[in-house]
Amino acid sequence: MKKLLTLFVVSMMVFAVSCKKQDGGVQEGGAQGAKIRVGFSQIGAESDWRKASTVSIQEEAAKRGIELLFSDAQQKQENQIKAVRSFIAQDVDVICLAPVVATGWEDVLKEAKAAKIPVILIDRKVTVSEDGLYSCYIGSDCTEEGRKAARWVIENVGENAGIAELVGTVGSGPAIERKKGFEEIIKDHPGLKIIKSQSGDFTRSQGKEVMEQFLKSPEKDQIKVLYAHNDDMALGAIQAIEEAGKVPGKDIIIISCDGVKEMFKMILAGKANCTVECNPMIGPQLYDVIESYKKEGQPIPPRVESIEGVFDSKNITQEVVDGRRY
Ligand code: AHR
Repeated sequence: MKKLLTLFVVSMMVFAVSCKKQDGGVQEGGAQGAKIRVGFSQIGAESDWRKASTVSIQEEAAKRGIELLFSDAQQKQENQIKAVRSFIAQDVDVICLAPVVATGWEDVLKEAKAAKIPVILIDRKVTVSEDGLYSCYIGSDCTEEGRKAARWVIENVGENAGIAELVGTVGSGPAIERKKGFEEIIKDHPGLKIIKSQSGDFTRSQGKEVMEQFLKSPEKDQIKVLYAHNDDMALGAIQAIEEAGKVPGKDIIIISCDGVKEMFKMILAGKANCTVECNPMIGPQLYDVIESYKKEGQPIPPRVESIEGVFDSKNITQEVVDGRRY
């Protein structure tokens, strides 16, 4: 009798599970209670900024009960394309992509579109020949960041300076746009000239290496300003400047983009001068968009902007440094 009862209970449990499957799964989170599944292809871990962006997206997913399929591409586009294809095969609800470079996405974006899976770009834009291959871009206006950096130089350094530029990853949206925005502003100031420009791939080690080369070049004594497309490269360059016997922040004025804690500390110590903020904490904005699309049936907006500032010795205090999360 006991055996019979156990058999009955087990078969009722199996029946309940199979009913759930036919219903499409009954879990908390999304439409009809189904858990929202998001595939996220991250670029890598090349900078403090990138690590903060990963944490923001992972932590916020966990907080909201969203299932996140995470893939680290180690800065390779081919790995990102593979990851997106695997998300399509796993039929996720939304694909989130931080594209390492701007071009070469057409085919895989068309595949996602054919599978009716919306793609949300975060942090970097892509260049595609037709509309509708992605649904939304959430992130910064990197051209404006370049403009802000140039305006800071004009206001704080003046009209005459040789500028060395550490460019980000070649072909990436922020590298193209931060250069474009900066040049757009300085072109009307003929005394401000970019005399050296080379990629440091957004990493600290390459920022240091390239700055070492700049400081050995025939133009070394004309370098009065360093404009780095991110803080990590600027931090590497500060080491190179010190090792070359110069005083960073004074002999060479340093301005970069991102606004990571380490850079704030350098500005407070007088070893760097300005950082134009690029906000990596976009997890909440991303999931707000995804949840209103999945739970409330709202359309995905084409653009969500992040709010950002400019930081220098006028507004960085120890309190600001201590309160910085990344
Ligand atoms: O795409 C944003 C850029 O990528 C950040 O400026 C940089 O630090 C990161 O690696």
